[in-house]
Amino acid sequence: MEAMVMRGLFGGRYSGRRVLLTGHSGFKGSWLMVWLKQLGADVAGYSLEPATDPAHIHLLGMHDPAFIGDINSDGNLRTTFNRFQPEIVFHLAAQPLVRRSYAQPLETFQTNIIGTSNVLEAARLTPSVRAVVNITTDKVYKNHEWPWPYRESDPLGGHDPYSTSKACVELVHESYRKSFFKEAGILSATARAGNVIGGGDWAEDRLIPDVIRTVVRGEVMSVRNPRSVRPWQHVLDPLSGYLLLGQLLLEGKEQFEGSWNFGPEPADCLSVAGVLDEFGKHWTGVRWKDTSGNKEPHESGMLRLDCSKSQHELGWSPVWNVQEAIARTANWYKTFVTNQRVSSQDDLEAYLANAQKKALTWAI
Ligand SMILES: NC(=O)c1ccc[n+]([C@@H]2O[C@H](COP(=O)([O-])OP(=O)(O)OC[C@H]3O[C@@H](n4cnc5c(N)ncnc54)[C@H](O)[C@@H]3O)[C@@H](O)[C@H]2O)c1
Repeated sequence: MEAMVMRGLFGGRYSGRRVLLTGHSGFKGSWLMVWLKQLGADVAGYSLEPATDPAHIHLLGMHDPAFIGDINSDGNLRTTFNRFQPEIVFHLAAQPLVRRSYAQPLETFQTNIIGTSNVLEAARLTPSVRAVVNITTDKVYKNHEWPWPYRESDPLGGHDPYSTSKACVELVHESYRKSFFKEAGILSATARAGNVIGGGDWAEDRLIPDVIRTVVRGEVMSVRNPRSVRPWQHVLDPLSGYLLLGQLLLEGKEQFEGSWNFGPEPADCLSVAGVLDEFGKHWTGVRWKDTSGNKEPHESGMLRLDCSKSQHELGWSPVWNVQEAIARTANWYKTFVTNQRVSSQDDLEAYLANAQKKALTWAI
């Protein structure tokens, strides 16, 4: 896609804008970094060093030591805000793993709740900031283990420390929005997306990275919860939602403040076993065993998202269904494992072409 066309996406709102992206060294953040650069934004990152080797941000050649920092260090964070004077902040930095949150609950609460509070405080004290998009999760809802999807108006709650920390983030964000941001002229929103897949993720205890690790070694994968149902989506789908939300907030449209779900169509909420079966169509040799009888920390069994609000009010909808998301993901890792080639740019181009075919407003 031509550079001029790319810069015109999302109403051309990102071209030449100063964007601060926390969590840029992680899975979702590195994809957002690629996309924002393509949109012509002036992007600064703020994250810890990549936690995995390989790391997507390294492979993209976008690792910049100047962008390394801890959100728990409010001094450094404020210096970064002061120096860079961002117009919009996408906050993705977090301890995002449920199982690690059982092993390290205090670190999870510290980073996700206090670290996020530091980011919101730095935004409030930086006069250039006009918009904040705060990334939480589908796990912020009080989970009743029922088949109905959760709406933005449903009660917050949490069982494991990760989910609880993100539900708390929603409350902290709401407090900043009501108490400070209005006065400071900042519009803000939280975004709650489902389970994200795509190339370039090597995090521990996540389904796709675990599949890749075991299939490459020729091992049989142990699957803790094969019957758990999740809203699976390609990483580019929630990112298009975050960018659309950011665009509308930068345009000063107050009606888009609040909370937004970004998830797949209902038919794309598959069980873990369903995802593995689908993945096996693209990569022979995927073998797994059900270890659900083992004693493991609690994880929710059934989680679906109702995305009617973002579809009707933002005009957002997913571009790729779960089959396409899994096919693209398998292909990304295959290309990397066999040719050491990083095909993220190809995925982004294909995604944009499909979004244009669907005539999504942000893409035309
Ligand atoms: N991956 C998913 O399926 C998913 C689903 C819903 C929501 N989310 C949310 O999206 C965001 C990004 O998740 P991800 O999958 O890319 O995770 P990731 O682990 O790949 O990346 C996390 C990022 O946060 C940064 N970080 C962690 N602690 C930090 C600290 N103390 N100071 C500065 N930076 C710190 C890391 O350096 C990294 O850049 C998180 O907020 C997560 O909760 C992820």
